[in-house]
Amino acid sequence: MAAPNTKPNNSSSIYSIGQDSALQLNDDTGWPPHGASSPTHIPTGPIDEGDHHDDIHDDIHDEEASDSGFDSGSLLGDDTDTLASSIKASRMENGRQYHAYRDGAYWGPNDEHAKEILDFAHHMYLLTLDNKLHLAPLENPQNILDVGTGTGIWAIDMADQYPSANVVGTDLSPIQPEWVPPNCSFEIDDVTLEWTFKPNFFDFIHIREMFGSIPDWDYFFEQAFRHTKPGGYVEIVEHSVQPISEDDTVGPDHFFTLWGQTVIEMGKRFGKGFEIWSESKERMEKAGFVDVVEVRYQWPMNGWSQDKKLKNIGRWNQLRLHEGVEGFMLRLLTQAGGWSIARAQVFLAEMRKALKDYNTHAFLEGTVVYGRKPMSTSHT
Ligand SMILES: C[S@@+](CC[C@H](N)C(=O)[O-])C[C@H]1O[C@@H](n2cnc3c(N)ncnc32)[C@H](O)[C@@H]1O
Repeated sequence: MAAPNTKPNNSSSIYSIGQDSALQLNDDTGWPPHGASSPTHIPTGPIDEGDHHDDIHDDIHDEEASDSGFDSGSLLGDDTDTLASSIKASRMENGRQYHAYRDGAYWGPNDEHAKEILDFAHHMYLLTLDNKLHLAPLENPQNILDVGTGTGIWAIDMADQYPSANVVGTDLSPIQPEWVPPNCSFEIDDVTLEWTFKPNFFDFIHIREMFGSIPDWDYFFEQAFRHTKPGGYVEIVEHSVQPISEDDTVGPDHFFTLWGQTVIEMGKRFGKGFEIWSESKERMEKAGFVDVVEVRYQWPMNGWSQDKKLKNIGRWNQLRLHEGVEGFMLRLLTQAGGWSIARAQVFLAEMRKALKDYNTHAFLEGTVVYGRKPMSTSHT
């Protein structure tokens, strides 16, 4: 697993993860969240005058479109500190910590355990893609965006791989490390709102595991297209949530079948589906990308495979799911599904049991899809 770089980018952080901040929340948002407020871009480093984050912010944002607290004349003005402290808040729910900014928008916790699970997945993607961070044929990229960056682990690795590029990661949660390469920065931002980055700007936009987070994928890809430089690439990496088999060991009555159907149903009720992995290519072409390539991969549910590489990936997947299913599903089952905690916990325990059955040859399908923005286009 790639370790975060330990180069300091600044001396202190504007945030630290709160303990139980549900009481600090002063919002009127319900579940599921309704409406959209103004986009906010808060760099997750110190916000001192002259800090390099400010420079990067000015460089990458379209000042006409941006209403961030960094713009002179913003209504937020000098209240950046206040805003920052509300962004660092968190909500405790059923013993797990969730993001507070855009409360309720995302299904997963953002506590230490959830961060570890995200980093397991990063390791699995490296195993899957033979240590490559991307498949798009990039040439000397200068501006790179990682949408929904999570712990920022991909963005940090990418900044190390391309030292002359600026890599920015955005997320609802301020869970990225403070010590990152100098060419890597993070912003708190809701990607479902209108993007305020400069148009035609990024050489590469990377999207990974945003399933269950995007209510309108066509709008999302329209925005990604708009902010990609002509000739630049967008890559999306997603996987299915429905375990299947090639030898009928996962039949219609198998628990894995019920599991997949349940996750997909909860996504629908949540208003943000989990099936983008099979739709990415078509949606990217619809948005105007050309030469769109889809590469398929498989993640076994445990180490059942005879294939050495798949066996290793399966062992990691088993660990990731065994330790992660509570975080993946607790909020969806109890909030979107209206299940009791007890019912949800029984369901999760069944999943953990199924993961230990080596006679079931189940796997998840996944896709890496990348496409290029043409040099001239009728799309905006
Ligand atoms: C499953 S994680 C994947 C993280 C990262 N892309 C990776 O592959 O390691 C999804 C991430 O998307 C973030 N997210 C969800 N909805 C979002 C939104 N509307 N705007 C920005 N980030 C969002 C979550 O906070 C979470 O960190």
